[in-house]
Amino acid sequence: MFKDVERVLIKKEEIDLMVKRMAAQLSEDYAGKKLVLVGVMKGCLIFLADLLRNITIPVEFGTITASSYGSGTVSSGQIKIINDIDVDIKGKHVIIVEDLVDTGLTLNYLKEFLTLRGPESVKICVAFDKPSRRKNPIHTDYKGMDVPNEFIVGYGLDYNENYRNLPEICVLKREIYEDSIN
Ligand code: PRP
Repeated sequence: MFKDVERVLIKKEEIDLMVKRMAAQLSEDYAGKKLVLVGVMKGCLIFLADLLRNITIPVEFGTITASSYGSGTVSSGQIKIINDIDVDIKGKHVIIVEDLVDTGLTLNYLKEFLTLRGPESVKICVAFDKPSRRKNPIHTDYKGMDVPNEFIVGYGLDYNENYRNLPEICVLKREIYEDSIN
């Protein structure tokens, strides 16, 4: 697995500091409020777990799985829900937790989707942002850091479902993924 990595882009220590900072901010902003984190699977898994264990106020969580319609590598630009949350969000403060925002399509859809259930508020928390890839404007209320438009994996992010367990954000060697982009 490590042999497929070209270089480490964001080290574990940097990620840990980022998560602690975000969790502290959420703990402060939502003290005394009913807080629910909604993690967008599967990429959010590691970030969500790290965020949860660093939040110091009462918090519920659920997970949701969304997927782009369309076949092959070309997305039709539509989203469908594969697995829904199992928590009631009505009257509560929802934070959508994402590992990565790319075009912004997923988050735009999910924000509208969850808002229909009558939560008190819906905000967005993302670990990594590729602003250069944005097609749908989106306000990220809580953001870890911007990343360049490179093929990154690790800390939950995958290539063909692999490399999610790498502890750091790594750039994959070009030879690993170039067949899929040609
Ligand atoms: C990735 C990422 C976001 C989405 C962002 O998920 O985790 O959910 O893409 O892309 P967008 O801003 O262009 O909508 P992916 O579909 O790769 O699934 P995964 O979370 O299971 O890896």
